[in-house]
Amino acid sequence: MIRLDYQPALDFLNPGALDALRPDTLRAHQTLLDGSGAGGDALGWRRLLLSPDDALLEDLVQTSERIREKADVLVCIGIGGSYLGAQAVIEALRPYFGGSGPEIVFAGHHMSGRYLSELLASLEGRSVFVNVISKSGTTLEPALAFRVLRTWMEARFDDADRRIIVTTDPDRGALETLRNERGYKKYVIPPDVGGRFSVLTPVGLLPIAVAGIDIRALFYGAADLCRRYREAEGNPALDYAAVRKALLDSGKKVELLAVFEPRLRAIGSWWQQLFGESEGKEHTGLFPVGVQYSTDLHSLGQYVQQGQRTLVETFLMLEDDGGSLAAPSAPSNLDGLDYLVGKSFTEINRNAYEGTLQAHVAGGVPAMTLWLDRLTPGTLGEALYFFEHAVGVSGYLLGVNPFDQPGVEDYKVQMFSLLGKPS
Ligand code: PA5
Repeated sequence: MIRLDYQPALDFLNPGALDALRPDTLRAHQTLLDGSGAGGDALGWRRLLLSPDDALLEDLVQTSERIREKADVLVCIGIGGSYLGAQAVIEALRPYFGGSGPEIVFAGHHMSGRYLSELLASLEGRSVFVNVISKSGTTLEPALAFRVLRTWMEARFDDADRRIIVTTDPDRGALETLRNERGYKKYVIPPDVGGRFSVLTPVGLLPIAVAGIDIRALFYGAADLCRRYREAEGNPALDYAAVRKALLDSGKKVELLAVFEPRLRAIGSWWQQLFGESEGKEHTGLFPVGVQYSTDLHSLGQYVQQGQRTLVETFLMLEDDGGSLAAPSAPSNLDGLDYLVGKSFTEINRNAYEGTLQAHVAGGVPAMTLWLDRLTPGTLGEALYFFEHAVGVSGYLLGVNPFDQPGVEDYKVQMFSLLGKPS
């Protein structure tokens, strides 16, 4: 169950600002549902949730079991939407230390040769599988990393072709040609699902399943919410979109997604891409930044409290964090912490959140809190869908196409020209 508390943001808005936005919000919601807006042909992420493919989920589980049985390491090659979702879910749900199954490492999400050589050195003597994930198959970072990894795998494993799994477009792209030639196992990224909306397709689901996470529960958590969120009444994704829009209109420029649980850190990176690529066009949108508290309160906290008043803050919190540790007693009170003895870390962390919220609001930062009951595959699936639905509505409220990313091409043009890529 997801709950959004946006009361602390309302004090920063003119009375009636949200009511005034309601008709536009309802229109944006309807545009998303009926696919009549810009990018309406990229709504496959909703289509897949509304008609689940259980056979595909079963196939992914079977492949993941084969990998879990045989692999020490799964290298996931992909960039942007082709890895951020998997990383977010795995980091959120895998035990901090000592989880079962293969180690999962990510590659192809930057151009560091040093990273790749150190990765290869660390793989020596281990049983390695590779999942290369690229819709286009031509993105330079993953394509180059895959060339390196493929060559490395072929030199070490007789069955390299069975250890490489490709997740790509159904029938186009460079990876598809190679896959046909080598007979790699293939999963499809449906053409109507953009990278940043692909976490609940094989793009995210295979690595997540290899991590030992229940992908059916994850998927159905999102699918149930997708069905429920067809209703506008009582839909917190619409409230989130509307409050953000009202705050943007009031002059705010940056939204922080703040978490108090380190395992939620990578949700912030996934969310950054989802909102940044969906909204940041035509010179509008809040600039999304994921922050991890209380860690970042000791670095960015000063700015949040007293820097430019252009910030909005959304806290992503767990009602029940699943922890049971309490502050222990000690032979002496030299550290002055006796006042905490017996207090659970959950309560201490909750006090840190409440104190931060109060201080930041008092310092001029409008805030909202998104509450999840607890962290399970099902609730995380809900959270992913919540943000996906919200960004669709939010993009339409801003008047942009939330499903394209034309600006991402510009750096590539310059880079390819410097690299001497033949045209
Ligand atoms: O969201 C997006 O569309 C992008 O982040 C892509 O996922 C990213 O650029 C990788 O593209 P591809 O999967 O084609 O390699």
